[in-house]
Amino acid sequence: MEKTFSIIKPDAVKAGNAGAILSRIEKAGFRIVGLRMRHLTTREAQGFYHVHKARPFFGELVNFMSSGPCITMVLERENAILGLRDLMGATNPANAAAGTIRKDFAASIEANAIHGSDAPETAAFEISYFFPGIEL
Ligand code: CMP
Repeated sequence: MEKTFSIIKPDAVKAGNAGAILSRIEKAGFRIVGLRMRHLTTREAQGFYHVHKARPFFGELVNFMSSGPCITMVLERENAILGLRDLMGATNPANAAAGTIRKDFAASIEANAIHGSDAPETAAFEISYFFPGIEL
């Protein structure tokens, strides 16, 4: 069993797609270990995405992620990290495969509906950043 971290982003919450996205996650065999709706502060979003701080899109990413409520989650399944990445689809919805969450719910590379950890080290950091009480 492996854990990963995910966020249903502000665009998807605002559009009323959170329930549909959660349903896809559960149908794909993930167990929800932790879940909390939050409205991120600028500092929380900056800290979460610190690996991207040198990127030209960092400021806009932080503004977007703190623009409204999001849903933070810890998910567990076999091969959870790669499995969730497959379910999400490519970062840019224009490149996302049919049937993926981003293909069906994302509007742009920034407002792309969902985040999922990309590797075991990032999953460990991201889970502990928002759910410090959960055992890894
Ligand atoms: P996410 O998986 O949450 O990780 C970093 C986020 O930066 C990414 O999804 C995108 O939503 C966002 N982003 C905005 N612009 C870009 C870009 N040009 N390239 C990659 N990611 C971008």
